[in-house]
Amino acid sequence: MSVEKTFYIETYGCQMNFSDSEIVASVLHKSGYEQSADPSKASLVLVNTCSIRDKAEQRIWKRLRELQALRRRNQVLQIGVIGCMAERLKDELLESGFHVDLVVGPDAYRILPALLQEVDAGQKAANIELSAEETYDDIQPVRYNSNGVSAFISIMRGCENFCSYCVVPFTRGKERSRDPETIVNEAKRLFEMGYREVTLLGQNVNSYNWVHEKKSILFHDLLEKVAWVNPLLRVRFTTSHPKDLSDELIKTMARNSNICRAVHLAVQSGSNRILGLMNRKYTREWYLDRVAAIREAMPDCTLSTDIIAGFCSETEEDHLFTLDLMNLAAFDSAFMFRYSERSGTVAAKKYSDDVPGEVKARRLSEIIALQQKLSGKSNRSDIGKVLEVLVEGKSKRSPDFLMGRTSGNKVVVFPDNGHQAGTYVNVKITGSTPATLKGVESNQ
Ligand code: 5AD
Ligand code: SF4
Repeated sequence: MSVEKTFYIETYGCQMNFSDSEIVASVLHKSGYEQSADPSKASLVLVNTCSIRDKAEQRIWKRLRELQALRRRNQVLQIGVIGCMAERLKDELLESGFHVDLVVGPDAYRILPALLQEVDAGQKAANIELSAEETYDDIQPVRYNSNGVSAFISIMRGCENFCSYCVVPFTRGKERSRDPETIVNEAKRLFEMGYREVTLLGQNVNSYNWVHEKKSILFHDLLEKVAWVNPLLRVRFTTSHPKDLSDELIKTMARNSNICRAVHLAVQSGSNRILGLMNRKYTREWYLDRVAAIREAMPDCTLSTDIIAGFCSETEEDHLFTLDLMNLAAFDSAFMFRYSERSGTVAAKKYSDDVPGEVKARRLSEIIALQQKLSGKSNRSDIGKVLEVLVEGKSKRSPDFLMGRTSGNKVVVFPDNGHQAGTYVNVKITGSTPATLKGVESNQ
């Protein structure tokens, strides 16, 4: 009797993981699996995991514990762990005492069907080999996560920056760029399907470099090619490393109005001493110069960032430098974290994680409070403006309202007057909170 093959996949962590899950779905569809939105109806449950901070891994261990209950009810259920934690902790996962059949790292998704055959034959299967070439460029992702309006396109994989706190270079391997033709074709295909926004994804998109027949295509070249697919297609990108943010990129953005007016530029710290220890390869002066260059070329461009509180040896003075830089850069939004030591990284090997937990927590809450103020101010400054909003669908909170985003990536909620997802509407902003803009359709 043939058993129906159904998979359920859940994803943790960054957008790259969500994008990878769409590749995994595609590989599994091709080998005869159906996707289910309900783990209790699946023959295979996959957990796409994140290792960036200890908290992320703890969440996954907790989830694996919960999945054991499902497995007790369904003795033929197969459980797989994929992604960064699979790469980092293969042996711990297989020997954890939890039922785990399959462990697959981020560069081995192509061979999932063969690994699953081993599992079908009653063995545990694992592959965490990292590749210098794999970009999955020929695999069409199954956009099961999508709202039909915006989609991610992965343009490169891996990272070689080796920021001293970061585990990503170890879990995702060498940096490699994807063939630009396949990227542009994917953007075209998405536009034809009705999508109106693509986000080009990579750990450090600014170091995109496709070399072919001795010619090099850099990130700003690629970005413009994608922007030229159609003026009605919005193009975003994430994430950028400040050290590689070139004037060419800023010029390319400024001359293409469908490249969104939003830059995510992770600063991590405002102290030059800490930036040095973090191996970030720029200073606060360099960072603020890049911010000034962006704002001069595109005064309406929003700026978001990542900040780590309480990195090794961080003093009160270093922390004040971070708060000061936040004020100077006037970030529109930020992701803020407390430092979490990751084994294997330079910071774990060379520096002591010596900022006490309560000091990290207090500094983080000061950073969050300041950002809340800055976000509130940024949103208030939009009141009275008419902004172009790409409608994504109904507002989750109130069904009489639509929700969409501005080019600067701010969420706007306004009364539903019948616009479909994927249309552009001019909205006059009438109110704001630190997280959302409110408005009404404008006739002007
Ligand atoms: N501890 C805390 N935050 C981290 N990040 C990366 N590694 C760590 C760590 N060990 C943050 C950085 C990065 C974001 C994706 O996660 O701010 O930009
Ligand atoms: Fe990690 Fe730095 Fe690479 Fe970002 S650039 S993934 S923080 S090593």
